[in-house]
Amino acid sequence: MNTNNKGFDTKLIHSGDFDDAFGAAVTPIYQTSTFAFRDADHGANLFAGKEKGFIYTRIGNPTIEALENKLADLENGVGGVVFASGMGAVSTLYAATLKAGDHMVASEAMYGPSRSIMENYFNNFGIESTFVDTGNLSAIEKAIRPNTKLLYVESPTNPTMVLTDIKKAAEIARKNNILMAVDNTFSSPYLQKPLDLGADIVLHSLTKFINGHADIVGGALIAKDKDIYARLRKTMSYFGANMDPHQAYMVIRGVKTLSLRVERAVENAIKVAEFLENHPKIAWIKYPGLKSHPQYELAKEQMKMPGSMLSFGVKGGFEAGKTLMNNVKLALLAVSLGGVESLIQHPASMTHASMSKEAREEAGITDELVRFSVGIENVEDIIADLEQALDKI
Ligand SMILES: Cc1ncc(COP(=O)(O)O)c(C=O)c1O
Repeated sequence: MNTNNKGFDTKLIHSGDFDDAFGAAVTPIYQTSTFAFRDADHGANLFAGKEKGFIYTRIGNPTIEALENKLADLENGVGGVVFASGMGAVSTLYAATLKAGDHMVASEAMYGPSRSIMENYFNNFGIESTFVDTGNLSAIEKAIRPNTKLLYVESPTNPTMVLTDIKKAAEIARKNNILMAVDNTFSSPYLQKPLDLGADIVLHSLTKFINGHADIVGGALIAKDKDIYARLRKTMSYFGANMDPHQAYMVIRGVKTLSLRVERAVENAIKVAEFLENHPKIAWIKYPGLKSHPQYELAKEQMKMPGSMLSFGVKGGFEAGKTLMNNVKLALLAVSLGGVESLIQHPASMTHASMSKEAREEAGITDELVRFSVGIENVEDIIADLEQALDKI
């Protein structure tokens, strides 16, 4: 179906659909590694790009392409490429946009492995990086060097909930002839559209809100421009970081309810954040939907809603936070986020353990920080669960 000029929810359901021979109501799974050519000329034409069609699933596949087209449409990009995981998307982003002698400026707080893979692997290929507080635009400007080629931000950051003013950061990138990529995992395209705000590339861990059901791992890159898209696609297929057709089918199914899930999760998160902010055992809380968040106004400007991720510290520090995590019964003590279930975890010893302690402290990922992904359960039950666990401290 042509979803041009259709609303976001209609795109969630129908964008990327293609005409199946049997009129299937949902995108079929083309679980095949290879595709037979009609004849030798057909095969040669496909390889030469003179005809459209499928060759080999690492390069492209109808089920995978349906998902890529849907995601590109949701983010208002020209093309999308999906991956076996979010980290497949991160490593492809770096490999496709940077070469020896280049430099990247990125958010100091971001998903731990997105930073660690740059500092422990890509640095070995002569690529330099500087991690700064991208919530501070002048810190970005100061970090830019003549060889800077990529500005990569997470907004909000994982797990410190710092926002980057995407529009203004994109202006800085453009002025300096730098590509700008945004990890939009924490917001999803329902809440934030980085390409509309001026970014060149959007990254997602599809594992989170987009799939939404904690049953697959996946990643995506969506480009605003055809040349960048072509570069990302080529790098993905050479690196072999492609998604599997069955995985793509699962994401297509999960994403259809994105706006419903996110709306409920945000509604719950606002109540959970208010409960925590007023609880005597909570030392501090960072949630962009609370007036106490220093970027509350920016969140209202660039996000449709403040999301359902929050971080906080418990009075009594790490030991008290540990008691809380060990005593929740409804929320799962587990990494990941953006699923229908509430999750609690400890970034310093879990998702961000791959960063050095100094880098973590500098980025505000202190030992006491607890991260909570608010699910879509009844909010009274989520709050009661937190309350009984806090009572144990
Ligand atoms: C913000 C963010 N980006 C990227 C990733 C990496 O995604 P994946 O775990 O799907 O490889 C994660 C994983 O938690 C994440 O939270």
